[in-house]
Parts: sequence; C-alpha cells; structure tokens
Amino acid sequence: MNGPTPHRIVEPGLDVVLAVRAEVLRRGTPSSDPRYARDEEPDTLHLAIEVAGLVVGVSTWMPETFPARPDALAVRLRGMAVRDTHRGMGWGAILLAAGLERAAASGAAIAWAAARDGAMPFYEGLGWRVEGEGFLDEVTGLGHHHMWVAIAPLTP
Ligand SMILES: CC(C)(COP(=O)(O)OP(=O)(O)OC[C@H]1O[C@@H](n2cnc3c(N)ncnc32)[C@H](O)[C@@H]1OP(=O)(O)O)[C@@H](O)C(=O)NCCC(=O)NCCS
Repeated sequence: MNGPTPHRIVEPGLDVVLAVRAEVLRRGTPSSDPRYARDEEPDTLHLAIEVAGLVVGVSTWMPETFPARPDALAVRLRGMAVRDTHRGMGWGAILLAAGLERAAASGAAIAWAAARDGAMPFYEGLGWRVEGEGFLDEVTGLGHHHMWVAIAPLTP
C-alpha cells in the first residue's frame, strides 16, 4: 500500500496544519478559515504524515465526549486531510491508525468524527460506523455524518 517510500508520523506546528487544512478542506467552500476553536489547547494533538520529507496529510485529535456515547471516554478527530497529489496511496490510513494508537494510549475508549459524506467510505473501510442522521455542516455547507470506532472494550 505505502510502498517503499520513507514516511514518518510527526507533530507539526499549527501553521503547517492550517496550511494543509486550507488547501484540502476549505477550497471550494464558503469559508477560507481553517481554524478550530480548540486548536491551541494543550490537550489537542496535531499529527501529520511526512512522505519523503514533505507533509502530505494532517489530522487533529482532541478529548471530547461523543454525544451518542456520553459514558465513554472519547477523542474527537477533526481536520483529516491528505493532499490531492498523495490521495489513495494509503497515507490517510496510516495517519488515522497513528492517531487511534495515541488516543488508545491516552485511555480513550472511542474515537469519533463529523465525517464528510464523501469520506465515509474511507472511514467505513477502516471499521468506523455511522451514528444517526446526516446533517449539513454550517462552515462548509457539505453533508456530514457522525462516525465512530471503538478503540477499547466498551460496556454494552
Ligand atoms: C479522506 C482522505 C483523508 C483519505 O486519505 P487517503 O490517503 O486518500 O486514503 P487512503 O489511501 O489511506 O485510503 C484507505 C482506503 O480508503 C479508500 N478511500 C479513501 N478515500 C476514499 C473515498 N473518498 N471514497 C472511497 N474510498 C476511499 C481507499 O481506496 C483505500 O481503500 P483500500 O484500502 O481498499 O485500497 C483523503 O482522501 C482526503 O483528504 N479527502 C479530502 C478531504 C476529506 O474529505 N477529509 C475527510 C474529512 S472528514
């Protein structure tokens, strides 16, 4: 999947994260502002994947209760974005796995996201499940669904 190209998971500066988010997630939307309210909080983790020295994908992970499972310690994924030039090569899956590993290590039982409908097959293919009805995101105007995955045994 990722072939022989050297890659590594890094914790980039927020400026790098914002640049990739703006390029991937804001182009063609009514908003040009790629920031999230909790980007600079100390328990927010920004993770990127670097391929041959170039950041090709970013993701942001923050503790936040999943509304459908308020009992479970949860981490929310936001701003998952892989540059056009590097899509479909497995980098997004590697970055997602790295974030989930860290979320599990932090003690979380669930990871969740408000996923763009266009990205749902990506998450579903990696074992995430849809929760609830779809909704329109007010920043991008795009259809979204809540999706989640268990990363530790859950109480039924
Ligand atoms: C969604 C995204 C992060 C996936 O990253 P990626 O590096 O392209 O994904 P990968 O190459 O690791 O794909 C892993 C698997 O998911 C599949 N997949 C990825 N994106 C897909 C999509 N949009 N639709 C259908 N399948 C998809 C791949 O084909 C691959 O399947 P395989 O393992 O059977 O070969 C990336 O396409 C992206 O940034 N898209 C635009 C922004 C976006 O929608 N971000 C998510 C916001 S919630």
